[in-house]
Amino acid sequence: MESKSFFLATSSGILLLSLAAIANASDCIFTDWAQDAPTCEADTNLVFEMVVFNERSASCCKPGSAGEKEMEESATSCRVSRCVPRSQADPCSTALPYETFYKGKKVIYEEVNRESCTMGLGSQGVAAYCCRKGSLESALASKMGAEPHEFPHMALIKLPGDQQCGGTIYNKRWIMTAAHCIVDRGSRKLRTPNNGWRAKVGRNVGSTEMRENDYKIIRAIPHPEFSKLEGHPNLEAEFVLTFNDAAFLEVDRDIVFGPNVKALPIAPAGFDELKYADTAVIVGWGITDTLQISENLLKANAIIRSDKACFILNDVEAGPHFFQFNRTEQLICVGGILDGKWSNTAGEGDSGGPAICRDANGFAVLCGITSYGGSDQNCSKYNNELHCPPSVYVEVDHFRDFINQTAGDQDESTFHKVHLYGEVVSGPEYEHQVHITSKTGKSCGGTLITPDTVITAGQCVAVGDGSGKTHSGVEVWSGVQDISSGSGKLHAVKSIVLAEGFNRSGEEIDIGIQGNRIRITDQYHNNDLAVIKLKEPVLISPNNLPRLPEEDEGATNSGLEYAFPRNTSWGGELRQREFKILDKDDCQRRMDRLENLKLNVEVDSELLCGVEKYSGGSKCDRELGGGLICKGKNGTDILCGIQVFRLCEWAIPNGFLDIAQFSRWIRATIAQS
Ligand SMILES: *[C@@H]1O[C@H](CO)[C@@H](O)[C@H](O)[C@H]1NC(C)=O
Ligand SMILES: *[C@@H]1O[C@H](CO)[C@@H](O)[C@H](O)[C@H]1NC(C)=O
Ligand SMILES: *[C@@H]1O[C@H](CO)[C@@H](O)[C@H](O)[C@H]1NC(C)=O
Ligand SMILES: *[C@@H]1O[C@H](CO)[C@@H](O)[C@H](O)[C@H]1NC(C)=O
Ligand SMILES: *[C@@H]1O[C@H](CO)[C@@H](O)[C@H](O)[C@H]1NC(C)=O
Ligand SMILES: *[C@@H]1O[C@H](CO)[C@@H](O)[C@H](O)[C@H]1NC(C)=O
Repeated sequence: MESKSFFLATSSGILLLSLAAIANASDCIFTDWAQDAPTCEADTNLVFEMVVFNERSASCCKPGSAGEKEMEESATSCRVSRCVPRSQADPCSTALPYETFYKGKKVIYEEVNRESCTMGLGSQGVAAYCCRKGSLESALASKMGAEPHEFPHMALIKLPGDQQCGGTIYNKRWIMTAAHCIVDRGSRKLRTPNNGWRAKVGRNVGSTEMRENDYKIIRAIPHPEFSKLEGHPNLEAEFVLTFNDAAFLEVDRDIVFGPNVKALPIAPAGFDELKYADTAVIVGWGITDTLQISENLLKANAIIRSDKACFILNDVEAGPHFFQFNRTEQLICVGGILDGKWSNTAGEGDSGGPAICRDANGFAVLCGITSYGGSDQNCSKYNNELHCPPSVYVEVDHFRDFINQTAGDQDESTFHKVHLYGEVVSGPEYEHQVHITSKTGKSCGGTLITPDTVITAGQCVAVGDGSGKTHSGVEVWSGVQDISSGSGKLHAVKSIVLAEGFNRSGEEIDIGIQGNRIRITDQYHNNDLAVIKLKEPVLISPNNLPRLPEEDEGATNSGLEYAFPRNTSWGGELRQREFKILDKDDCQRRMDRLENLKLNVEVDSELLCGVEKYSGGSKCDRELGGGLICKGKNGTDILCGIQVFRLCEWAIPNGFLDIAQFSRWIRATIAQS
């Protein structure tokens, strides 16, 4: 998955190095394993040492050589720790298969992800994915890393010769992927599955050992018209491989479904990808900005293009034939630069993986299969549509016949039935959500906790310069059906009380790019809370209001966030989204991995970190100040948080103010007014 903003791709290709490849590098000499400290020949540098227990081996390379550079890559790339008991606190510092030293200095790793693995005697343990502290790979995991088991329908397809693709679990025997994944690149002949073909399911990190989740691939069936194109004898071979680029892989035994292994429903025939959302979620283990395969599953929201906006690239004269054929009904283009806005694209190794769309009922469906893309090498340099082409996906709903005939039906009981970009909700039990506007501030959300008291973020109603000055013309709307239609009932404000110590803090940071490349910036605020008292109570049953938490009633491990999405082309109805609340250490680790972004968010006791349970990363379409509703101790709804901080594009957690910490102050404020 390639992410352009903030990190520029390096210009030269770097091959993924396996240990076997290292041993062949001609610029370097390798010492055998020994207990003694290795010594290098006079004309070489000691570059990379590995230490296993008391034995060490080293590589000595000619200074300035390509081998030396490769060795640096190898010494500092990410690795998966050994499988250790779950209780082990820090697998990266204690359970890497070996210690590594780069030019005499020990390489320090940080954990970017962890997941289940099978230990020697068949018991379950954890393996961590460890990257060099402060490295680009580590930052990428924070920006784009999928949460453990977030995409239980993903399969990693491993083929002999280090080839890999993504795939989507279709039913208990079949995995859907791209046909070009099963073709020999040299001879362009279909390959026959052998023992080396594997589908790995139920994992985020590609190489963790989970034998029960490894399936042998016994049959591979491409679309019958794959790579057939009559009358175009001069086409480049690679391009022909993009025609009808869909295939099914059959596994050797029934896939065992469970919470971490599920099928994804495919889009219905005639599906309109752009109708219910303007982005799709793309997921894969493909090459990243570092031009290395990512061991860690990455995800992103990518713009879906209209047919016209994809095939406008017909005009590219110099480019390959990639975009010259009008196959609009068979293909979907996602990502790249469109209308000045950039979004992620797929990279090599992502092939066969999914584009996931929102369907008519708001659920996630498989709408695309990663097929091909234009080169992105000059995108960072020119930053325009021409040089930042989209990735092209097979339009799944067009191939329903092939799908039905090859793999039969799907089984609904195996589906990962999950809302994408929120569930539209309406009715009296959601009327606690209000919409707040002002003449000088942002448009925001808020939550009624009594019929005449609204809790929202301080920044929604006040300037935040320490003066205590509120925005002019603050208005509260209840019963809003759709934010874009201006419905709802207006309520006059009696008073606004800001939390003590509310102010802006830290630097302004970029949180995303909007239309015409306008950067959106935001600042973190301390004590970002306000209580709005209304002149008249809102007509609402107190049973439909969440209650204020007790001081010791912290957030549980998940909550539902409410917001009217803004600036979406597909409606502004109230949405409910489920967030997982992270523990503070985990959240702080993620923030710290983003040194380049200068986030400087200190995850203090007031901040709850939440990640949306199934998403391509944070979207900027939601309102600040909106409520996060959790279950309290006795099972009733509490207002456990309000949204105070979010980034627009990435998997970095959203910040919610922990309302339990302020409940005493809120009670006192309500009593006074
Ligand atoms: C592509 O095909 C669609 C329908 O198949 C048609 O509406 C459109 O005009 C065509 N575009 C070009 C550039 O030929
Ligand atoms: C990138 O741009 C350079 C000229 O600036 C050109 O020579 C090169 O072919 C381009 N590469 C691609 C992949 O388009
Ligand atoms: C494929 O099968 C599904 C489920 O039985 C059905 O809904 C769909 O219409 C079929 N599609 C085609 C193209 O036959
Ligand atoms: C904001 O508040 C914090 C703590 O309450 C304080 O340390 C800081 O100086 C304040 N900043 C401004 C600009 O008032
Ligand atoms: C979002 O929509 C509102 C209202 O239509 C508009 O005023 C605002 O400029 C838009 N914001 C962005 C970032 O496009
Ligand atoms: C739950 O607890 C809260 C506060 O402790 C209390 O006000 C409320 O009445 C309780 N609700 C039920 C249904 O027990």
